[in-house]
Amino acid sequence: MNLIFYTATRFLHVGTAVVVVGGTFFIRYILLPAAAKNLPDDAHARLRTSLMNSWKKIVHAGIALFLLTGAVNYYRVIADGSHKGDALYHALLGTKIILAMIIFAIASALVGRAPALEQFRRNSRTWLTVNVLLAAMIIGISGFLKVRGPRTLPGAASRPDPAASAEAERD
Ligand code: HEM
Repeated sequence: MNLIFYTATRFLHVGTAVVVVGGTFFIRYILLPAAAKNLPDDAHARLRTSLMNSWKKIVHAGIALFLLTGAVNYYRVIADGSHKGDALYHALLGTKIILAMIIFAIASALVGRAPALEQFRRNSRTWLTVNVLLAAMIIGISGFLKVRGPRTLPGAASRPDPAASAEAERD
């Protein structure tokens, strides 16, 4: 049961990253330059309004899914004790979460309507580039943590180390 649940939340977490980060990349590097080059100003403005109305829903749903599935991922790590006492893991994960909050704030400003944040929307190219770069850092950190795998400090382990158990059996 746990296996199915955690696989589903992992699937949703990575799937959300694919859709939201991929969509941001597409808008910044494919759609924006093509629209700026080929459309007159009024058509460009209409395309922008229409696009933002749909993209906004994906951004908001994506933020909710990231927070929900990210919290489940982290709960699992705490519950199984696989990184207990692992300072590097928690420092990097904390950094990743802070970067994610910055991305969420920028993405919300870009799809929102608050007049105070108009400055962000006027410089949408720059802020989309910032979000793509931050997302690349997040994916790098997440991938590194996954490949590095579980580490526990001696004495902090809640799961026996299989290599250590095998050695103890031989003695
Ligand atoms: C822009 C937002 C985010 C992106 C692009 C992102 C991306 C990823 C990716 C690609 C993985 C690797 C999954 C795997 O290898 O199975 C991952 C794992 C994870 N994410 Fe996120 N994530 C984001 C936001 C968050 C947030 C907000 C949280 C916490 C509230 C979170 C918590 C986690 C945890 C705990 C893991 C597991 C790390 C491990 O393997 O030990 N993520 N994320």
